[in-house]
Amino acid sequence: MVTTCAWIVTAALLLCVGLAGAKDNLRVAYEWREMDFKYESPDQRWSAIESGAFKPANVIPFGLEVYRQRLFVTLPRWRDGVPASLAYLDLNDTSTKMPALRPFPSWVAHTLSDAEPELVSPFRVKADRCGRLWVLDSRISGVLEQTKLYGTAQLLIYDLHNDDLLRRHILPAGQSKQSSFFANLAVEDADCENTYAYAADLGSPGLVVYSWRDQESWRVQHHFFHPNPLAGNFSINGIEFQWDDGLYGLALSKPQSDGYSTLYFHPLSSTMEFSVNSSVLRNKTLATSGAIYREFKILGSRGVNAQAGAQCLDTETGVLFYTLPNQNAVACWRTSKSFSSQDHIYTNNNNLIFPSDVKVDDQQRLWVLANQLQSFIYDELYPGSINFRIFTASVREAIEHTACEAPKPLPELVSKLGEVIRTNIKLKTAEDSNSVAGSKSAASALQLSLGALLLGCCLQLRSWLL
Ligand SMILES: *[C@@H]1O[C@H](CO)[C@@H](O)[C@H](O)[C@H]1NC(C)=O
Ligand SMILES: *[C@@H]1O[C@H](CO)[C@@H](O)[C@H](O)[C@H]1NC(C)=O
Ligand SMILES: *[C@@H]1O[C@H](CO)[C@@H](O)[C@H](O)[C@H]1NC(C)=O
Ligand SMILES: *[C@@H]1O[C@H](CO)[C@@H](O)[C@H](O)[C@H]1NC(C)=O
Repeated sequence: MVTTCAWIVTAALLLCVGLAGAKDNLRVAYEWREMDFKYESPDQRWSAIESGAFKPANVIPFGLEVYRQRLFVTLPRWRDGVPASLAYLDLNDTSTKMPALRPFPSWVAHTLSDAEPELVSPFRVKADRCGRLWVLDSRISGVLEQTKLYGTAQLLIYDLHNDDLLRRHILPAGQSKQSSFFANLAVEDADCENTYAYAADLGSPGLVVYSWRDQESWRVQHHFFHPNPLAGNFSINGIEFQWDDGLYGLALSKPQSDGYSTLYFHPLSSTMEFSVNSSVLRNKTLATSGAIYREFKILGSRGVNAQAGAQCLDTETGVLFYTLPNQNAVACWRTSKSFSSQDHIYTNNNNLIFPSDVKVDDQQRLWVLANQLQSFIYDELYPGSINFRIFTASVREAIEHTACEAPKPLPELVSKLGEVIRTNIKLKTAEDSNSVAGSKSAASALQLSLGALLLGCCLQLRSWLL
């Protein structure tokens, strides 16, 4: 009996090792020491560097998005010398892991000498399923040097079939406050004609909702958009700092049959996650009234040091992916499971310093950008080492062996356990053959099978509960 138990424990351990797996489910797709641009000619590139229009040390990638064969990167103007603040690379070009970027939509769109430049300093972009690129431009440059405001934040919507600017929505003065800073965006695109964009204000906590059909926006207030003063402590790769940023990560669920989605959201300086039904936000009258307070839900806390940055949701699996800058990690939560069932999909103290953005594209590929933002802001980046990386994996690979995997059907588990046990029985029978009778082996094999079934049920129960 003692040995039977020992075998069951061994089997369980072997199985658990298989289930727990390694948390390194992403691979590096691109990496750069410094960002570079494809100019018309090498001469033009050199004259841009000479004139100070392009200062490579001041260019840092921040947000990313993938649509078809293009990977878009935002390059906010924290300092001067950023020649284009939105650019892309061609995913088809596999000749280099350090591609130079092309400006989007053109060099001209980034000319700051214009009275009203088309693009100033976007932080986040989102491609929708209708072939449009939504760009959230803060229109604030030089936040780490000489801050210059070009106006209130704006939404620019481009047609990705020809890169034409379809529409420009500048936020009305009342929807942008003194310390407003818009850095995150979600787009509810189930209906291409009745699309809604949600822009998060981290500086003066609030949410601006834009209706594509009605061509107007409104501002929503809620206490859950505010930072937690006790959760502003960050310590990343030896650099300690305090931030008090409000509403930040936004992600939309797959629409329900009635067309509405759940918006998951969190402030940056907070460990809490919240949600709200988009029907509440899309009704301007309701959204701007005080009556919506109770419509917002508290999902829970991720725990100590689990302040989350950007987030996105894979609508196929319902898995939410989010970055954990304090933990050099990207994590996941299968929204159909309880909130406590969260897991890391990738953690790396060397190459995932400050995961800044995470996206799932329309081919169910996950993309993560890490940029060492804390060094860029508070120290400096060394041009000799790799500073920026883009990771990728399919969603299926990314959540493999994590708590976010689809619950395994019972027969598969039992047969897996059966395999482990059959191997063990073979070994055991060989051991027993010259000492004990066969009947005893048969009895213990029966005990093992019963144990296996029990264990299988327990594990299944566990994966349902978590
Ligand atoms: C990129 O590759 C895809 C499929 O391999 C192809 O359909 C597409 O035309 C290519 N795009 C460019 C710009 O070469
Ligand atoms: C902030 O973080 C630092 C470094 O991890 C730690 O020493 C300090 O106690 C923290 N402070 C608070 C208020 O949590
Ligand atoms: C969202 O609100 C709509 C309209 O009030 C309602 O029909 C729907 O059931 C709500 N969805 C969820 C997930 O609560
Ligand atoms: C919007 O909300 C208001 C206030 O609750 C309600 O009277 C109105 O019917 C709603 N409009 C729509 C289109 O649901």
